[in-house]
Amino acid sequence: MSKAKVAVLISGRGSNMAALLYAAKAGTCPYEIVLVAANDPDAAGLTLAAAEGIATFGQSHKGIKRAEFDAIIDAQLRKAGAQFVALAGYMRLLSPEFVGKWAGRMLNIHPSLLPKYKGLDTHQRAMDAGDSHAGCSVHVVTAELDDGPVLGQTPVAILPGDTIDTLAARILIAEHQLYSRTLADFVMRERTPDYLLDRVRALALALPQVDEVTSHGMPCFGIEKGKKFAYFTQDHHGDGVLAIIVKTSAPEEQAMLIENDPDLFYRPAYFGTAGWVGIRLDGDEVDWDHIAERLARSWRTVAPRKLTGLMDAADAF
Ligand code: GAR
Repeated sequence: MSKAKVAVLISGRGSNMAALLYAAKAGTCPYEIVLVAANDPDAAGLTLAAAEGIATFGQSHKGIKRAEFDAIIDAQLRKAGAQFVALAGYMRLLSPEFVGKWAGRMLNIHPSLLPKYKGLDTHQRAMDAGDSHAGCSVHVVTAELDDGPVLGQTPVAILPGDTIDTLAARILIAEHQLYSRTLADFVMRERTPDYLLDRVRALALALPQVDEVTSHGMPCFGIEKGKKFAYFTQDHHGDGVLAIIVKTSAPEEQAMLIENDPDLFYRPAYFGTAGWVGIRLDGDEVDWDHIAERLARSWRTVAPRKLTGLMDAADAF
């Protein structure tokens, strides 16, 4: 499986970017850095990234409206083929449009134990409060500043005699460890069987009168007390494949799909000649709209007329 493509946004030094970049050099790292972009063409991190052979983009945001500047950055991310964005000391508030476009695909590292001390001066605020520990957090970026689900945290003890600089330097060590590990887990998350089954289950159970049973050891979806229209298969009989198996309209459609895209579709063993087709979920990226459509079509092949008639009426609106 190919590595997830990550773009990193920085504003200055870029030491977290460097940590991500060097972690990515390990063969086992599930992500690669495809772009480092900055809102300052003189950001030191850009020089380092370029020297390491990574594509860079630097442009000042000054004089450009926030949403327009974010659109420029977004265009660069798309051009680089980025699938995920890692903010690493990117000191710009993001427009809601940009956050929306990268919803669930953008992480940030923040030097505090969130939800404590959002915003600036985090180290000073932790010391002023007399906290025993400061630390760092990696979280999913949402519209609110330094908000969004926390994916990982490292507490860092505050020592007697610490200054902002000594504490910040120690937290930075923790940041460098935490970010690459958390990012690696995050890009892998959507490839795990549990995640894939959850997504399939949500789509299948959203169709009318569907229930889930286990059949031949596989999670299986059917019309309540009726026929089955989808199976979730994970390494069945040791075939190493993660896929859903759904019904096509006829064996001819099954054959056509497999011929047109043999990497995505396959003919499942033990499913006879009734036109069942396997759709792999273990490729680089799953097209969930396509999976939803295939599940709905498969559902239609087994649903009683009374139900498909209701769906037709709803679709006509
Ligand atoms: C890091 O400490 C990071 O946590 C912080 O900026 C620093 C960037 O350093 N980010 C924030 O405060 C975001 N709210 P770096 O450029 O060397 O990675």
